[in-house]
Amino acid sequence: MAVLPILRFPDPKLHTKAAPVLVIDDSIRQLIHDMAQTMYQKPGIGLAATQVDVHKRIAVIDVSEDHNDLRVFINAEIIEKSGECENEEGCLSVPGVTEKVKRAEWVKVRALNEKGEPFELEADGLLAICIQHELDHLDGKVFVQYLSRLKQNRIRSKLLKQREEETSA
Ligand code: NI
Repeated sequence: MAVLPILRFPDPKLHTKAAPVLVIDDSIRQLIHDMAQTMYQKPGIGLAATQVDVHKRIAVIDVSEDHNDLRVFINAEIIEKSGECENEEGCLSVPGVTEKVKRAEWVKVRALNEKGEPFELEADGLLAICIQHELDHLDGKVFVQYLSRLKQNRIRSKLLKQREEETSA
């Protein structure tokens, strides 16, 4: 197992659209393990393959307090959604930034688990928000893209400055 490096906004690779997983083999299972370990180590509550520069439709999520409820979503699709809510979101690819984002309050998702078995899941609350956030990543969308141009520019400058300070340190 390994902790993987995470792409940071405004890295253009974060805007790559991920391709469906055709075969769930050992390399995919290894990737899922590594993604989970990376998410727990940060710590975060969700991670999309896009964020570790692998452009396949895989996301891992664990919104439990004790980190014992790992959910794996392969080729996930939101097939129904309803309601609206607005919550503070953050992202491992946008460290140090949280902003309010509007999302559906409830979603029904269809996906494959790590064994390749199809499942459907209805979610609300934090899990619903997290699913929408991670599936956005797989479509190349980072949550800051819901914000005003002004805010996006401010976040972009902040993160570029952060990176500059890290590399010159
Ligand atoms: Ni994120």
